[in-house]
Amino acid sequence: MAPSDLRASTGVAGLDVMLGGGLPPGRPYLLCGVAGSGKTLLGLQFLLEGVRVGEKVLLVAVDEPPPEILDNVRPFGWDLSKIHTLDATPGVQVFRRMGNLQEIKSMHDVKSMQEVGDKPNKAQASEDVTLQSIYLKLRRQLDVIPFKRVLIDSMTSVRHYALRAGNDLQIERVEIQSLLRFLSEKGVTTLLTAQPYADLTPEAILCRGEIDLERGWAGHRTERWISVRRMRGSPHDTQRRAFHIGGEGLSVEGTQEFVKGRSSQAPGTHPD
Ligand SMILES: Nc1ncnc2c1ncn2[C@@H]1O[C@H](COP(=O)(O)OP(=O)(O)OP(=O)(O)O)[C@@H](O)[C@H]1O
Ligand SMILES: [Mg+2]
Repeated sequence: MAPSDLRASTGVAGLDVMLGGGLPPGRPYLLCGVAGSGKTLLGLQFLLEGVRVGEKVLLVAVDEPPPEILDNVRPFGWDLSKIHTLDATPGVQVFRRMGNLQEIKSMHDVKSMQEVGDKPNKAQASEDVTLQSIYLKLRRQLDVIPFKRVLIDSMTSVRHYALRAGNDLQIERVEIQSLLRFLSEKGVTTLLTAQPYADLTPEAILCRGEIDLERGWAGHRTERWISVRRMRGSPHDTQRRAFHIGGEGLSVEGTQEFVKGRSSQAPGTHPD
């Protein structure tokens, strides 16, 4: 079997090349970048690629409500209808206590994007949203639907809204570790988006690899770059490449160099 057959394609051909064929499946990965760098769009491409190959895929929407996401991708003409979504945006989360755990009320169950209306769920008081409740919801959902890909958008918002104030680092680490281990045990390839972090977070330690998106200015024009900061157990491109968001979707420039370099064993290939 060719190595690429053992990889989960990201849906962006150039990024797959940088990754040596795609992401090693069944593991969690971090997708880091500043606001507007393209994390959500790249994450959606990753989910759409899963749909394309017949997988069940889930978006855990913590930043933007699903109706807004549908609106934002309209210019690209992407069909998100086969993506399932759990609307966990603050203001729409209502939790019901279950012993120590809390559960997102059934009105906010996972639904397909096709069922998402054009308005956010009726705003509810945002109460004590916890990572545990999202974890519990995912456990239940994965018993019903065998999701192969999950996008958590974003871990930064989970941190803001879903980690209890005053949580000590040990509890936080255990909660994040439980969630990521559970998803790996279920064979789920998970992308967690995040703003660049200053301190090393538990998810940064626990994720098997990290893709970085950057944004800057060239005169009055926005420029973007993509790089693979690390990818455990897998050779990958160590160059920073130009990354484009346009009418055609997402693309990476110049990966032919990496392919050429790899075939001649040139530096730039890094078996992490
Ligand atoms: N049709 C389009 N053509 C060109 N650029 C676009 C198009 N649609 C969106 N963009 C660019 O993509 C950016 C949004 O990307 P995305 O929402 O994925 O960023 P993000 O990293 O998730 O940001 P945030 O941290 O705010 O959630 C927009 O700021 C815009 O510059
Ligand atoms: Mg986003």
